[in-house]
Amino acid sequence: AHFTEKDPFWMDKKVLITAGPTREAIDPVRYFSNYSSGKMGYALAQAAVEKGAKVTLVTGPTNLDPPAGVTLKQVTTAEEMYNEVINQFAMSDITIKSAAVADYRPAYTYAQKHKKKQDQWSVELEATKDILMELGSQKTTDQLLIGFAAESENVEDYAKGKLAKKQLDLIVANDISAKGAGFDGDTNIISIYDRKGGEQRFPLTSKNQAATHILDSIEAFKKEYES
Ligand code: CTP
Ligand code: CA
Repeated sequence: AHFTEKDPFWMDKKVLITAGPTREAIDPVRYFSNYSSGKMGYALAQAAVEKGAKVTLVTGPTNLDPPAGVTLKQVTTAEEMYNEVINQFAMSDITIKSAAVADYRPAYTYAQKHKKKQDQWSVELEATKDILMELGSQKTTDQLLIGFAAESENVEDYAKGKLAKKQLDLIVANDISAKGAGFDGDTNIISIYDRKGGEQRFPLTSKNQAATHILDSIEAFKKEYES
């Protein structure tokens, strides 16, 4: 067993973390979702608890065991995640949004199972709310907000665009096109950009190791700019 020492910076912090995919129902037996496993968010929650933080984990459906010591809030849809996160946000010192929230959901959820009558079936989709964008607009100066950007191309440009547009303090860019990296596996290739222009690039790491890098970057940013 390994023991991470409690860290004075994290010991008094309330940390809100989101993880996993959301599911958007089409009918009683079908849904839209994505390949997110939840591993990155769960690794972050575990690492933050080990450092002594008070952690609330808002999670979509995953196959993972929740880390011991977190307050767990289970949700299914993007709308449920929005409501839960907005409820928790004002109490949170540091919010890390690693969930892969569905951008679209069926405009209409059939009450009955759709039968295979025709050769084709179109399902109309409507946009969900962008939770992180809303948090960026509600954020106070003593709160830190960290987003993720899952990108398959133009990783740096897109990530920096989201950092600015969503008024984040830091963004973790995740190159899902690289071998061994992405939504479903145990490893990631991440870069971290902050709103003061700081940039860090990491080689292929385990998601546990990535979690430690992310928490260290948050701590360093807070100490440098907001102490
Ligand atoms: N996010 C969110 N609510 C949504 C969609 C995304 O809070 N409805 C958050 C994610 O949790 C992540 C960040 O926004 O922290 C970026 O998500 P991403 O899917 O990379 O970017 P989008 O802004 O959704 O843009 P696109 O999918 O077109 O790249
Ligand atoms: Ca998206």
